[in-house]
Amino acid sequence: VTTMKAISAPEPGGPDALRLLEVDRPEPGPGEVLIAVHTAGVNRADVYQRMGLYPPPPGVTDVLGLECAGEVVACGAGVSNVALGDRVCALLPGGGYAEYAVADAGTVAVLPGGLDMVQGAGLMEAAVTVWSNVFWVGGLTEGDTLLVHGGASGIGTMAIQLAKAAGARVVVTAGSQAKLDTCRDLGADLALNYRDGDFADALDRLDVRADIVLDIMGGSYLGPNVRSLATGGRLVVIGMQGGTSGELDLAGLMARRGTVTATSLRARSRAEKAHLVTHTVAHVWPLLERGVVAPVIHAGIPLADAARAHRVVEESRHVGKVVLTVR
Ligand SMILES: NC(=O)c1ccc[n+]([C@@H]2O[C@H](COP(=O)([O-])OP(=O)(O)OC[C@H]3O[C@@H](n4cnc5c(N)ncnc54)[C@H](OP(=O)(O)O)[C@@H]3O)[C@@H](O)[C@H]2O)c1
Repeated sequence: VTTMKAISAPEPGGPDALRLLEVDRPEPGPGEVLIAVHTAGVNRADVYQRMGLYPPPPGVTDVLGLECAGEVVACGAGVSNVALGDRVCALLPGGGYAEYAVADAGTVAVLPGGLDMVQGAGLMEAAVTVWSNVFWVGGLTEGDTLLVHGGASGIGTMAIQLAKAAGARVVVTAGSQAKLDTCRDLGADLALNYRDGDFADALDRLDVRADIVLDIMGGSYLGPNVRSLATGGRLVVIGMQGGTSGELDLAGLMARRGTVTATSLRARSRAEKAHLVTHTVAHVWPLLERGVVAPVIHAGIPLADAARAHRVVEESRHVGKVVLTVR
């Protein structure tokens, strides 16, 4: 059996629970590809998985990592969208923090021209999440106002750029001046420091209402998010950093004829993920090719230093994506 280096957290815990282990190299089955991983994106979900709070779905490797970029080195039967030697990025159910990763071919895409492997690793998870939640679920169109919480996050930096490219007005929240400045540089029209007070009060004072809210806080922001909605507004919850429950003011929601939705990417079927990737590539890749949108990368950190990468993300010292470099 050929082995490879990979990172998992056999015993849940802090960043030092991450272990660099020698494990069996995976093999691609029908419809799958084997990627020689150059870089792997670090997501907040990986931190939760390491802590034991977000176990991999049944049948999925316990090697961490929901996305990677690299070179296709083997294809299973029936793969036609990518070929040996292609430089690709991939959405993974797990297994990205490793020298090799297997991906369902439907969730693999050739890297847009001009993007390097480090940018490639930070692309898939953010692009698919933003495209599917802001444009598909949220239905953002030109002239809409989008409110993005955590505007300087991996997700937030992609959301600002894609929404501006679509002709929307973008409002963000973040917790430091440096992060607010980054959001403005990326095109945000209004950037609010959530530490300065209730963002919904601030929006009220400015008479700004959101047609779509992309929310990562969950429970703690449910009230102010609903208060910030425009008539017919859509609140799309994709994270629960502020808790899993909160009080929903139905009268407020009804007065706005609003919608509250929550979605998750990882739990979706292979077919659904492939569908989302296909549509994301069709809509987002041309913008990447033209340089209108680019992944924002905080740092590339060697795979063996994954604990340091997790510390950066946990302490929110990063802007954009933290990426592990593998080869
Ligand atoms: N449902 C899905 O399918 C899906 C997919 C991908 C990601 N997600 C979720 O999306 C979120 C972002 O993911 P990521 O990987 O981009 O994480 P990330 O880069 O670590 O971003 C987290 C952000 O949260 C911000 N934040 C913390 N407290 C805040 C508050 N009270 N108000 C506003 N912002 C606050 C932090 O900024 P400050 O330093 O300014 O506090 C930080 O930028 C995570 O919760 C993740 O689980 C969901």
